[in-house]
Amino acid sequence: MNLSQYPLLLWPPAASAIAQETDWLILAWTALALLLVAPVFVGMTWFAFHFRAGRNVHRGVREGRNHLLEVGWMVIPFVLTLIFFAWGARVFDEDWHPPAGATEIHAIGRQWMWKFQHPGGQSEINDLHVPLGQPIVISEISQDVIHSLYIPAMRIQMETLPDRYTRLWFKADRPGVYRMFCSEYCGTDHSKMDGELYVMKPADYEAWLAHAGTADSLAAEGKVLFSSYGCAGCHLPGATVRAPSLAGVYGNPVPMADGGTIVADDSYIRDKILDPDARKVAGYKQIMPSFKGQIPEDRLVPLIAYIKSLGAPNAEPNGEPTP
Ligand code: CUA
Repeated sequence: MNLSQYPLLLWPPAASAIAQETDWLILAWTALALLLVAPVFVGMTWFAFHFRAGRNVHRGVREGRNHLLEVGWMVIPFVLTLIFFAWGARVFDEDWHPPAGATEIHAIGRQWMWKFQHPGGQSEINDLHVPLGQPIVISEISQDVIHSLYIPAMRIQMETLPDRYTRLWFKADRPGVYRMFCSEYCGTDHSKMDGELYVMKPADYEAWLAHAGTADSLAAEGKVLFSSYGCAGCHLPGATVRAPSLAGVYGNPVPMADGGTIVADDSYIRDKILDPDARKVAGYKQIMPSFKGQIPEDRLVPLIAYIKSLGAPNAEPNGEPTP
């Protein structure tokens, strides 16, 4: 049952299964809190009335104790609240871990707009189109200050931080248009940093993608940037400078000069482009210059998508994502 169909509750629509479960969790928790707190206030009122000044009642210490009652009023509320701990932890865990096969969309926050980049290369400002019933992961990063992407209809929110990728995910199960907000005060026009989420039926979404389509996928766009920023001169097989080949690097452990290893995920590759001196790769001289301040966030996304697409070692990089 979808609680948000009752407008008196003043809740935004709940457009995903997790959103509905979150509503139930909050409602049930509120009910339990009332159940536990109400007897305390009823008792307080009764005692204040019964033992008021001037009334002739017994005020001494009562003999004998009811141990069952005393243990009961501690253990029962404890167990009841533990149930909510387990329930809340389960919803949180589900909210935290996107299912395999989710579509990844990149969100870049800046003062004061949102830019979204789809895997097919389509990008949009302050609007986000997604298909119904398909898990969507939004990978977020900020180009300036801290923002926060908040989608009330999905009951999710995630901080958008400079220099660090964060993510949230949802699976919409009701088509419609829902509001999105920046929920972190980020300067003068913070209140205008909002947008609309369009949840579309799959066929409509395909039509939208085709209509908004660009010639290149994100990875193909990244391949062009890989050449124009000069990365290809050192990192392609056969380059004159001895630099690590990037084929097959993504998602695998990279040995570091200090003896450890780091898995090459989006954050690692981004750090390596912007601050290559921070962690030295084993077996190579650290000669790569920093690209900090030269490559904006919305170009790092396709660059990383391209590196991700360079599947097995020695594969011919062709700019197409590896399936
Ligand atoms: Cu961005 Cu508030």
